[in-house]
Formats: sequence, structure tokens, C-alpha cells
Amino acid sequence: MTKYTSSTLAVPEASAIPRHVAIIMDGNGRWASKRLMPRVAGHSEGLGAVRKVVEECRRIGVEYLTVFAFSSENWRRPPEEVGFLMKLFLKSLKGEVSRMAENDIAFSVIGDLSRFDPAIQEMVHFSEQKTAACKGLTFTIAANYGGRWDILQAMRRCIAANPNLKPEQVTEELLQPHLSMAFAPEPDLFIRTGGEQRTSNFLLWQLAYTELYFTDVLWPDFDEAELHKAFDWYSQRERRFGRTSAQLASQAMSDAV
Ligand code: FPP
Repeated sequence: MTKYTSSTLAVPEASAIPRHVAIIMDGNGRWASKRLMPRVAGHSEGLGAVRKVVEECRRIGVEYLTVFAFSSENWRRPPEEVGFLMKLFLKSLKGEVSRMAENDIAFSVIGDLSRFDPAIQEMVHFSEQKTAACKGLTFTIAANYGGRWDILQAMRRCIAANPNLKPEQVTEELLQPHLSMAFAPEPDLFIRTGGEQRTSNFLLWQLAYTELYFTDVLWPDFDEAELHKAFDWYSQRERRFGRTSAQLASQAMSDAV
């Protein structure tokens, strides 16, 4: 069983600072094209933004940060760009793992890693193990990840674990521990840069009650100040989880007594 509340089964506790932030880092290609640079230069620059956001989340006490680095649909990109992203992923892991461990950041990857080069798979496992005891922030990269893939693989693992299961016995509680983010609470805040307003097959199950923030800022330009704009916006949201505003107000009154 997962230790976290499902937003559809019970009302989770909402905190002023989001406990879990999930980000779609979009706009690297456009950032580079605007500067007459190759698209991949935008990805290199985007890595700098990842560093800034990880460090700021760690500093202000966000517990989980999950970023979408490569979707199951990104294999459709030109092979040179896919190859570049893979090299960047491996190089950045090699360069950052010690720094993450020193800063008490636990690293993890969600997604189907089987299609990745063995060197990447080994580095991912090494990095996860090296940072496994860290408690400050859990930084997760979604790589070859898709929300539909996640629900399907969870369903398959659930059936494998309970072979005599009848359809009517399938419940959220039974399925949830098999989802790839079972180790984390559901995201409180979703951020997408680059101007598009869609969730693009990211954490479909987990985003059920997440606040969705969209900004036109291109990912390489997303920095600490932009992150705080998203947090300020989040702090103004009324998180009702299906309840009415009046119910929230009366609960706030009784909490205050
Ligand atoms: C979307 O921008 C970005 C990606 C598909 C890749 C994200 C990768 C990084 C931020 C690089 C470093 C990160 C890690 C974790 C190694 P896009 O290329 O779709 O931009 P566009 O919409 O302007 O074309």
C-alpha cells in the first residue's frame, strides 16, 4: 500500500508551498531557433534551467520535483536530436550525481528504461543507489515515460501480483502501489513552459486534482524568479478537491477555533 492519500479517495492536506511540483520543460527548440542556433543548443541551455529549479526547490523545501525530460512519443524526433538528448542525459548524470548526494537530493527515474543504452541504464541505477538515503528533495526525471504506459504497466503488475482478481475487485488502492510514482504524493502544482496548454501524456493518473500553471516563458529562460511566480499563483488557488467554497470556509473557521 502506498503511504500517500489518493485525491479521489480522500481530501489531501494542501500546504502553502507545493510538496510536489511536476514540470513539462517546453520551448528549448524555439529558444535556440530564435537565436539562429541549432535546436540542440536549446537543450544544453535547458539543462542550466533544470539546475536552477532543482536548487531552488531544495532551498525552499519542496519535497518532490518531477520533470518530463523525454516522452514515449519523443522517439519520433530526428535521430540526431534523440541521440543528443541521450548523450546530454548521460553526461549530466555523471556530472551531477555527487553534487546531488552532497545536497541531500535523492534522484530517481520513472519510465521504460529498457529502450535506453545500457550505459545510461547503469548510470541511472548507480545514481539512484548513491542518493537513495537522501531526504532533502526527491528529484525525478521522467524518461521514455507516458501516462498511458504508466497506467497499463501498473494494471499488468497488479494482475500479476493478484492472479485470481475478479474485475469488481480492482480498486484504486490495489492499483496505486504499482504506479511508477507510488513513492510520492500526487503533484500539487504542474508547470508547463513554452506557451502550450496541454498535459501531453504526463502523469495522467496523478494530475487528477493538480493545479495547472502555464507560462509562455521558454524553458531555458525559466529561472528562480519564474518559479516563484508559479508558486505565488499556486498560493492563490482555492484547492477544493470537489468540495464547495462554503465548505472550505466553514472548515477554515472550525480549524481556527
Ligand atoms: C521540450 O522542448 C524539451 C525536451 C523534449 C527535452 C527536455 C530536455 C532538457 C530540458 C535538457 C536537459 C534535461 C535533462 C534532465 C538531461 P522542445 O524541444 O519541444 O522545444 P520546442 O517546442 O521549442 O521545439
